[in-house]
Amino acid sequence: MGTLDGKVAVITGTGGGMGRAASLVFAREGAKVVGCDINPAGNDETVELVRRAGGEMTGIAPVDLTDPEQARQFVEDAAAAFGGLDVVYNNAASLRFGPMPDFSVEDWRATIAGELDIPFFVSKFAWPHLARRGGGVIINVASMAAMIAGEFPPMVGHCAANAGILGMTRQMALEGAPHGIRALAISPGPVLSPASDRDLGDDQAARDAITKKTILRRFGRPEEVVELAAFLASNRASYITGANIPVEGGATAW
Ligand SMILES: NC(=O)c1ccc[n+]([C@@H]2O[C@H](COP(=O)([O-])OP(=O)(O)OC[C@H]3O[C@@H](n4cnc5c(N)ncnc54)[C@H](O)[C@@H]3O)[C@@H](O)[C@H]2O)c1
Repeated sequence: MGTLDGKVAVITGTGGGMGRAASLVFAREGAKVVGCDINPAGNDETVELVRRAGGEMTGIAPVDLTDPEQARQFVEDAAAAFGGLDVVYNNAASLRFGPMPDFSVEDWRATIAGELDIPFFVSKFAWPHLARRGGGVIINVASMAAMIAGEFPPMVGHCAANAGILGMTRQMALEGAPHGIRALAISPGPVLSPASDRDLGDDQAARDAITKKTILRRFGRPEEVVELAAFLASNRASYITGANIPVEGGATAW
């Protein structure tokens, strides 16, 4: 028996990285997964991987979640796919890095849209579906940059957007409780996906610059984040709401 048996889980950004890992773990725990991505090829591959592992998943792509109309349509399609929604895992994000004052107004707006608009849009449109079921769980993926500044790469938009996610999550928890909706944030530290591993290649100096703030002195693995998400989405976490849980190798502890 899985910890998410019978639950319908929307996961955004399932075209790769942690969204793919989340699809596999949530499906392993018995959830019916509805994923989406702006990248259809990666999304199809995730659906195939989940089904091959014996899980249940529907993929919808391409969807650009920075567009509120596409976000609304995706949520409606997701709710129709399995007859309702129980869990929203707001994983998708796109962002830009750059130092002050070179970070342009366009960089700023693209980062706020890619990191803060997306989870707001998806949650807003999913809210009535969750409430209709008598409750559910919204998990917003933030970042350790919500809590501390980051030296490398420079990340003013990323810090601001993710601090916004934490504020939004607390408010969603307060407003959600009367409807049975729990809202939580997870704040990962540096996580190495197959794609970022490839991009970093043998640049050990860049790898060390990224991981030096972690107590564990290493990158996290996608599974180390999404196993927590699966627990938080389950009824086992029924007394946890409004919280932000760091998964960052201790980076914010010192
Ligand atoms: N990887 C890290 O080190 C790290 C650290 C802290 C926080 N995070 C957060 O974790 C989450 C997942 O990170 P990841 O490393 O797996 O990222 P990723 O870039 O590998 O995956 C994000 C997915 O979202 C999709 N996406 C982007 N913009 C979209 C849009 N407008 N509409 C629909 N889909 C869109 C991408 O195509 C991609 O498949 C993100 O919210 C990210 O900010 C990651």
